[in-house]
Amino acid sequence: MDLANKRVLVVGASSGLGRAAGLRLAREGARVAFASRRLEQLETAAGEAESGAIAVSCDVRDPDSCEAAVKTTVDAFGGLDAIVYAAGLARPLSLVEADASAWAISVETNLIGASLVTRAAIPHLAESRGRALYVSSITVDDAVPRRGMALYIVTKTALNRLIEAWQGEHAEVSFIRLQVGDTHGTEFGKGWKPEETAHVRDWLEKGLLFGRSMEPEDVAEQVVWALGTREAIPVMVIQPRRVLESRDRGEGE
Ligand SMILES: NC(=O)c1ccc[n+]([C@@H]2O[C@H](COP(=O)([O-])OP(=O)(O)OC[C@H]3O[C@@H](n4cnc5c(N)ncnc54)[C@H](OP(=O)(O)O)[C@@H]3O)[C@@H](O)[C@H]2O)c1
Repeated sequence: MDLANKRVLVVGASSGLGRAAGLRLAREGARVAFASRRLEQLETAAGEAESGAIAVSCDVRDPDSCEAAVKTTVDAFGGLDAIVYAAGLARPLSLVEADASAWAISVETNLIGASLVTRAAIPHLAESRGRALYVSSITVDDAVPRRGMALYIVTKTALNRLIEAWQGEHAEVSFIRLQVGDTHGTEFGKGWKPEETAHVRDWLEKGLLFGRSMEPEDVAEQVVWALGTREAIPVMVIQPRRVLESRDRGEGE
């Protein structure tokens, strides 16, 4: 679909990938609602985006807030052509460390919130025969879930099935899952404690990292493409190109 004047709600748009996607969509002429909890950051993003962008308060862990965010967007734009669900978080915890509260935060933010926002948006997306894109992760494909990321990987794996379930129930809307690899310049690992980042060494040793990471704009480019292309793209994956050690390239031997 041509994105000019298309009405898009981006949830999780105060920072990182969601913010970059919102700005990039606005550059294509879309009317973007930047939604999440931190209104000040959302207003700054909407101001940067121009083209009629708005800031919308939304806590995805609160069902009423999800409904209200969709309603505010539809009232402001007169309908809805797409949603982008970029809200998400990870705390690196082992399963022994993960108490009920840690589980609740992860499941509610990464999984249930996605369904609540979709549930509120679906009549409007059905009317416009629109699209719904969700930011998932390449970590779901690790043969053994990487150490410290079980809650994250379990909730993102469930998110992938949730997207397929929504597609099964609503053929009139195109559902897209975008699995993303390591990206810097976001707030994803901001609150991680030094002892929690010790897991990263284990990921390095197991070859799960790429030697480099991507920019939020690289991911935003794919969001624009997935929403704008004529055909359905049910699954997309973007990951950094791997930096090869010289020995892997057959040099220096
Ligand atoms: N960075 C990576 O390497 C990477 C890789 C693969 C996938 N991802 C996924 O990409 C998505 C965006 O992550 P990011 O890297 O851009 O991190 P980020 O900068 O921390 O962005 C996370 C976004 O989620 C929002 N959010 C968190 N809890 C929320 C809540 N209860 N209600 C509404 N919004 C909430 C935050 O907004 P507020 O705090 O304002 O509410 C923020 O806008 C996540 O789903 C993440 O799993 C990231």
